[in-house]
Amino acid sequence: MSVFNHRAVAAAATAVLLLAPGGGAAVAAARPRYLDPTAAPQARAADLVRRMTLDEKVGQLVQIEVGHVLRECPNGIDDGCARPIVGTYGVGSILSGAGSAPFGSGQANTPRHWAEQINALVHASINDTRLHIPIMYGADVVHGHGNVLGDTLFPHNLGLGASYDPALVRDLQRAAAADAVATNVRWAFAPDVDLAVDTIWGRYYESFGEDPTLVATLGAASVRGLESNPLLASSVKHFIGSGRSGPGLDRADADVSWRALADRLIPAYRAAIAAGADTVMAYDGTVDSVPVTGSRYLLTDVLRGQLRFSGVVISDYGAVRGLLNNFHMAADYEHAAAIAINAGIDMTMEPDDAAAFTGAVKAAVAHRLIPMTRIDQAVARILTLKFANGIFDRPYVDAAQADRTLGAHAELARRAAAESTVVLRNAGSLLPLAGDARLTVTGPGADSVRDTLGGWSIGWQGVPADSAVRAVTVRAGLANADPHVRYAPGQDEAVAAAGDTDAYVAVVGDPPGAEGPNDSRDPTLPADQQALVRALLATGKPVVLVVLDDRPLALGSLVDPTTGAVGPQAVVMAWRPGTEGGNGVADVLFGAVNPSARLPVSWPLRGADHRSGYLDLTLPTTSGTPGGTYQPLFPFGAGLSYTDYTIGPVAAAATPGGVTVTVPVANTGTRAGDLVVPVYVSQPVSAVAVPRKRLVGFTRTTLAAGESRRVSIAVPWSRLAVVTGDVDGDRHAGVEPGAYVFASGPLTAEPPPVGGPGTVRR
Ligand code: BGC
Repeated sequence: MSVFNHRAVAAAATAVLLLAPGGGAAVAAARPRYLDPTAAPQARAADLVRRMTLDEKVGQLVQIEVGHVLRECPNGIDDGCARPIVGTYGVGSILSGAGSAPFGSGQANTPRHWAEQINALVHASINDTRLHIPIMYGADVVHGHGNVLGDTLFPHNLGLGASYDPALVRDLQRAAAADAVATNVRWAFAPDVDLAVDTIWGRYYESFGEDPTLVATLGAASVRGLESNPLLASSVKHFIGSGRSGPGLDRADADVSWRALADRLIPAYRAAIAAGADTVMAYDGTVDSVPVTGSRYLLTDVLRGQLRFSGVVISDYGAVRGLLNNFHMAADYEHAAAIAINAGIDMTMEPDDAAAFTGAVKAAVAHRLIPMTRIDQAVARILTLKFANGIFDRPYVDAAQADRTLGAHAELARRAAAESTVVLRNAGSLLPLAGDARLTVTGPGADSVRDTLGGWSIGWQGVPADSAVRAVTVRAGLANADPHVRYAPGQDEAVAAAGDTDAYVAVVGDPPGAEGPNDSRDPTLPADQQALVRALLATGKPVVLVVLDDRPLALGSLVDPTTGAVGPQAVVMAWRPGTEGGNGVADVLFGAVNPSARLPVSWPLRGADHRSGYLDLTLPTTSGTPGGTYQPLFPFGAGLSYTDYTIGPVAAAATPGGVTVTVPVANTGTRAGDLVVPVYVSQPVSAVAVPRKRLVGFTRTTLAAGESRRVSIAVPWSRLAVVTGDVDGDRHAGVEPGAYVFASGPLTAEPPPVGGPGTVRR
């Protein structure tokens, strides 16, 4: 049956579970331990593993793409058509990759239909396998349940990074988790906690920012939000090295030292694991020329040994086969699978070929390339995850309720969009705009749903042309707030409207994309868009430049090369703000919301400065420029408000657990506002070269007009640790003895004064 009856499924499942493998209610006492919902997940998994054949175990190690099943089930999923894949191989998991849904083209993309079809797959797995082991369904819930038409999409992570608001991130992910579970998606491949350090990178916007402390804090909040749903697992990704490739390109070699891995990249994983991440996705790329999917050192010694991760490690899409096809690390699939599984991959995302993978693993076991103990360990981890997340005890959802998610969370999405919108320049207090201002809105992003939502939205590279997906564009958001908004799609039309225009809003940026196809060789505002903005400026009317993009773009001719002056009177970064994006941006432009967002990355002055991170560029050089080679257009942490604040000077006090930094803050302006208070540390003397300033903590505080207060930020000693020792050292991370000087306020090149109240000695 293609439209699945939930109640029938639930009844059948209950019967199957109670009867399997040897009795009904009457023999409940003899019920196998794995079917006892009161037993611990590990105990249930151990009991089940003991009952499994090699074929059944190997099946659990594979996750296939739903398209693989749909080839057998073009008219909708039922037990009969799913049997050749789900039943024969007993696959452990099924995913919807980017842009994929659990039904064929032409069938309605609704939450209800998702739930019915996933219920049907689960039913097939329970019904068609000897031990009735349900599959666990996964999807990329990276900014909401992105493949489902009508579900609310939130700003992508980089926008959320600008909010510096872990509570907001947690709440969004809790909402996204509810939407996912309503469709019976029980595994979210999120969050991405890689660092955004190179604007070339096609996945730059999937990161929360360039700074380890910021990414660790928001990544952990994201995990907490997803994992707060007892029926959902998160997957922190992509461990490790993603985004650090030498040329900046997706999945090119991350030629990084252990020090860079340990000091910069690992902290976010440590924090996400401590926050309860159930699964970790391995990076489908190389670190120091070693494919991570095949690195026992990284996946086992570091991830399990050092970071104490005890959950499931999943490979990235096709990455185990990639050891064969892409990296030529093995001569055949059997050896590739052995390398990956021995290295520490528990579940393999093998989208297309369950038969080839299971065959390869069984051959590897027969040839003693993989010990049975390792197979059992991986299967036990996967089954423990399933037991812990209710996959056995609550395998189905009520599909009739799933459509309730449609349009839910709109208010939260609007708040998130406003909290992520960064005002970077506001000459002559052009913003906030008057509620009745005669605005002319123009630019390629102004009315583009695609540009508003970004990648991973119904389609992998962004909203497909024929999609009915909706979002509030900037044009629509401004028009909702102000009846005098005129939309002029073309440059000539916009310029001709100058006489009736108080100000222009030019919405610019590149179209969205994802992963490698979205790598940008020249992350600069396209020349025709620079020309559009110059033409608007030439009318003499003020211009608000709103950038909708995956990354901060160099502004080219809009910045005077000698003076550094920026042409548009106002510059606003709106990232990929999501379903309610236009309303959130309008809230900031008209002042319904006082902007509080701060850049989570550095904004490069030139396209050539794409490697823009402040941590790298404030290390000493011979370039002669003060503050190293860090010469951004807008520095990390930049962002304006419609009120005025004073921050500092700080006082720091050592405690057994770390340092308490007290920051006096005041709102000296006339409007209430939320202030992001960063804490940077400097080391006047250090045995290894450390960045001049490192973010080690932050908080947000609400201040009424005229209000002042002291905020305290606890910085654990571990945040100050770096890998000490020489290049051939023992890789030990520790807090070097000496002075640590704490400061708050905007990131500047000047070192803070040593010896004052902000100094702590260790
Ligand atoms: C991406 C992952 C994603 C997976 C499944 C891969 O191409 O690298 O981030 O979770 O596809 O869609």
